[in-house]
Amino acid sequence: AFKPLVFSGVQPTGNLHLGNYLGAIKKFVALQDTSDCIYCVVDLHSLTAQLVHEDLKDQTRAITAAFLASGIDPRKHIVFNQSRVMQHAELAWIFNCVARIGWMNRMTQFKDKAGKDRENASLGLLAYPSLMAADILVYRATHVPVGDDQKQHLELTRDIAQKFNNDFSDRIAGLGVGVEMKVGEETVNGFFPLTEPIIGGPAARIMSLRDGSKKMSKSDPSDLSRINLTDDADSISKKIRKAKTDPEALPGELDGLAGRPEAENLVGIYAGLAEISKEAVLKEFGGQQFSVFKPALADLAVEKLAPVAGEMRRISGDRAYVDAVLSDGGERAGLLAEATMKTVRDIIGL
Ligand code: ADP
Ligand code: NA
Repeated sequence: AFKPLVFSGVQPTGNLHLGNYLGAIKKFVALQDTSDCIYCVVDLHSLTAQLVHEDLKDQTRAITAAFLASGIDPRKHIVFNQSRVMQHAELAWIFNCVARIGWMNRMTQFKDKAGKDRENASLGLLAYPSLMAADILVYRATHVPVGDDQKQHLELTRDIAQKFNNDFSDRIAGLGVGVEMKVGEETVNGFFPLTEPIIGGPAARIMSLRDGSKKMSKSDPSDLSRINLTDDADSISKKIRKAKTDPEALPGELDGLAGRPEAENLVGIYAGLAEISKEAVLKEFGGQQFSVFKPALADLAVEKLAPVAGEMRRISGDRAYVDAVLSDGGERAGLLAEATMKTVRDIIGL
């Protein structure tokens, strides 16, 4: 079997928000004790949203600083940016030839981002999940911590791995580069693992503070909709105070949150920050009004986020250090990626 290996990525677009932090980065940090981890700033992915960035390199450094400030150790693990390791793009091209257009057309993120004028969306936006599969599989990563919004892309990654394993099964066996793995009831000899997502916990999907039906997102035009990792204590408190809620008190049980997405979201944020369950939050605050819960949530958010923001500022000030982390990480990632690609080229006959 493969040694467990964790990969995940974050795009260098805009400010990191509480959804990114609770849904992804906090998990990245926690996994370091039990796994080998590769954390990537996916700058190539960000071109799908906007090709011309004035400050892409600085955005990449800012995400890197956030990784480091949150507690990712770049000596024990690997931190780098995607465009340094061109094997990602090479494998993505091969996967573009493995995956089917129909698979890509079904992706809800593509449909959301492309909007009505789908014919005019970039080919890169359509192929985004193929590059994401390459990011993961070029390291033959076994686990990917992500927010709930990425679930469908992880399923597609497994589909691509499975089709590659299947299409080239004879060559994989002939070269002796396969590993036994279970696919349903069957045991097959595959080169790429069927990577598992690590999704879940109370903060897998943090919603907008202004609209409980939309996820908290970097691209939301309303600044009140999200808490940025770099927000100061005053703006954190203000955004929580202004967060949309309903007039009821908090329930004592989880069932009582049904049909109350805004309330559930704030409870999930509290739970994620405090590293407890939503049930435990309701045990403490059940029966209380938001006029009591919101200030407690604001205090907790400031207590947990202020040190991260402070570290981010400190680390961002040392640009040479950040660049050294990326360059060292890129070199180490490149060796691993090239080892995979050598075999992939052999399998394909390139
Ligand atoms: P965004 O979705 O904000 O543009 P990315 O695509 O770079 O950011 O996502 C980085 C990570 O943050 C991914 O693992 C994604 O699933 C996670 N994430 C993004 N938004 C949320 C959210 N609102 N709640 C939980 N996790 C999220
Ligand atoms: Na996302």
